[in-house]
Amino acid sequence: MIKVGIIGVGTVGTSVVNILKDNADVISARAGQDIVVKSGVVKNLSKDRGIDITLTDNVDDILNDPEIDIVVELMGGVEEPFEIVKRALKSGKAVVTANKALLAYHRYELQSLANDIAFEYEASVAGGIPIINALRDGLSANHIESIMGIMNGTCNYMLTKMANEGVSYDAILKEAQELGYAESDPTFDVGGFDAAHKLLILASIAYGIDAKPEDILIEGIENVTSDDIAFAKEFGYAIKLLGIAKKDGNEVELRVHACLISKDKMIAKIDGVMNGISVVGDKVGETLYYGPGAGGDATASAVVANIIDIARSGKSRPMLGFDKPLEGKLTLKATQD
Ligand code: HSE
Repeated sequence: MIKVGIIGVGTVGTSVVNILKDNADVISARAGQDIVVKSGVVKNLSKDRGIDITLTDNVDDILNDPEIDIVVELMGGVEEPFEIVKRALKSGKAVVTANKALLAYHRYELQSLANDIAFEYEASVAGGIPIINALRDGLSANHIESIMGIMNGTCNYMLTKMANEGVSYDAILKEAQELGYAESDPTFDVGGFDAAHKLLILASIAYGIDAKPEDILIEGIENVTSDDIAFAKEFGYAIKLLGIAKKDGNEVELRVHACLISKDKMIAKIDGVMNGISVVGDKVGETLYYGPGAGGDATASAVVANIIDIARSGKSRPMLGFDKPLEGKLTLKATQD
C-alpha cells in the first residue's frame, strides 16, 4: 500500500482525496496496489472539508512520518514550498507538485536534487491536459519547432465571457475566483504570470531553457476591453492570451501576451476555462492538446495520474525532464516588445 501526505488541502487537494476514493477500483488495479491519503496539512483546522483524512497544521507531521511515501505539494507560493519540497526529497520521499510558480523559479535545482527520486509535476501546466507527458514522452522523436497556446483558464474564461455576454471584467474575475479557477492572488492570472510560469516549464522540457519569469516578455489581459473584443469579433478575430515558444536556430523566443487570432484557427474556438496548446514537431507536424486548464477535479486528475505512476514504477527511478530536454540546451532569444 502507498501512503500519501498532502501539503495544502484546498480545492485541488480535496479533489485528490475524493478521486483516490471514488475511483479506487481502477486506481489500485492500474497502480498494482492500494493508494491512500494518510494525512493533509491545512492552515485552518476548524474548516470542514468533507473529507475523511487526518488533518494537521504542522508540515513536520508529514515530512517526519516514515509511513508516507509520496508528498503532494499543493500549497502554492514559491520559497516556502521550495524548502518543504527540498526536505521531502532529501528524506527520500517522492514528490508530486502542481505548483507552477515554484517550478518557474526552482525547477532545475529541484530536479537535480531529486536525482533518481520520483519528482512529478503534470498538473503544473494546463490542469487536466497531459501536456507534459505528451511533450516529454509522446513527442520525443521530434525536434520541437514551436509551442503555442492558451495556458491560463481564468483569462480564457474571462475573455470568452467578455466576448459573448458583455459582462464586466471585475464581475467575471470574481466568478472565476468563486469557481476555483483563479490563483489566490488573481494578478498572477490576469497579469500573464501564471501562463509564463507554465510556458517556462514547457520550454525547459523542450529546449532546456533555464530562464525565470523576469527574463521574458509577459503581458496580461488587464488592458483588454470589451470594445477591443467586439472590434476583433467584427473583423473575424478572437482575442486570446497566449504563451508562445518559438525556436529560431539555436535560440528560443518566449513570450506571453494577448493575440488576435483568426476565427478559423482551432485555438480561436477554444472557449471558457479550457486550455489548448499546439506543439509543432519536425516529423509529426502540428499536434493540439485541448481540455480543462483549471478546476479541482481536472487538476487533481493529473496529480493522481502522477501518484499512480509512482506507485506503479517505484519511488526511485531516473527522471526525464529539464535535465534531458528534447532539443538539447538552447539559448533564450531577447524579445522586443
Ligand atoms: N489559475 C490557473 C488558471 C489554475 O486559471 O489556469 C490552473 O493552473
